[in-house]
Amino acid sequence: AAGQRQKQATLSEVLEKAGEAYRKQLRQSPAAIAYLKDRGLSGEIAREFGIGYAPPGWRTLAGVFPDYDDPLLAESGLVIAGEADENNEGKRYDRFRDRVMFPIRNVKGECIGFGGRVLGDEKPKYLNSPETPVFSKGRELYGLYEARAALRERGYALVTEGYMDVVALAQLGFPNAVATLGTACTTDHVQKLFRFTESVVFSFDGDAAGRRAARKALDGALPYATDVRSVKFLFLPADHDPDSFIREFGADAFARFVNEATPLSRFMVEVAREGCDLGSAEGRAHMASNARPLWSALPEGALKRQLLTEIAELVQLNAQELGELWLPPGAARP
Ligand code: CTP
Ligand code: MN
Ligand code: MN
Ligand code: MN
Ligand code: MN
Repeated sequence: AAGQRQKQATLSEVLEKAGEAYRKQLRQSPAAIAYLKDRGLSGEIAREFGIGYAPPGWRTLAGVFPDYDDPLLAESGLVIAGEADENNEGKRYDRFRDRVMFPIRNVKGECIGFGGRVLGDEKPKYLNSPETPVFSKGRELYGLYEARAALRERGYALVTEGYMDVVALAQLGFPNAVATLGTACTTDHVQKLFRFTESVVFSFDGDAAGRRAARKALDGALPYATDVRSVKFLFLPADHDPDSFIREFGADAFARFVNEATPLSRFMVEVAREGCDLGSAEGRAHMASNARPLWSALPEGALKRQLLTEIAELVQLNAQELGELWLPPGAARP
């Protein structure tokens, strides 16, 4: 265990050193600087998030680490070790080339990985560090370390999809933003967030992927939606994400969307109701059936009791009937 911790510390040191090199490269790369300026980033915010640039070369990091063949470099995800050839020498090369680099930090501030964005329209748009002993995409939130003080001050977290969303929101007056790393928001993410705040506003992109992400976040959040917590969902206009929206319409407009965000209870009922014709007994029964697993995932409390009543009204049962249907006599209360 001590050896494992030592290894993790060393991996973070390797990543930190690479991050410093990427920052130095950015200062010397007019094209990357122009890209960031073009997207509206100030130098100050780029420094705050430690943004850098990986040049196009295949072995840039060989100039940073004296031993480019050190297995730690491959283990960190910075170097890709190809198949060994007849001389038993695998070709090694940098994973990140010609990309703007976003360092990802854990809550202690240690660098645990990177997200890298192309400067143009090439695919894939983003490349992320692979899963390593220090980095797990399903658990980490981009910007959590940078946002930690603001989470206390503002009293809530804004959860977005992307790196640029976090940076743009921080620059334009919402330093309490974090992002899932191109994955669905998991219960691990939600649990981690609630160690820092009692209030979360999910703000996904106004596209189909964003709506799917909101639906997944609902599943992740339901078990943690206790009566002392607040979980809301902010839906941006189609074709906007927090970055594009706040840059086009400004901080006040974004604040209005935050203030009018949909509470979890309302979103949950909307999701259950979707596609159900409440004018027919079948449609009402279908809604009740959709609502049951969502409702069951909620922790016991006043919110859960109220939602039973609310859903019962919508499906034209009384709360006792619906309760009997969902919690048959003898069943353990969830
Ligand atoms: N993502 C990824 N790999 C991709 C595309 C996206 O890991 N090929 C992740 C990134 O974390 C990205 C997030 O998913 O930030 C949201 O994707 P998307 O909305 O498509 O990108 P934006 O963050 O809006 O990217 P940008 O504004 O830079 O174009
Ligand atoms: Mn999107
Ligand atoms: Mn974007
Ligand atoms: Mn986006
Ligand atoms: Mn259905």
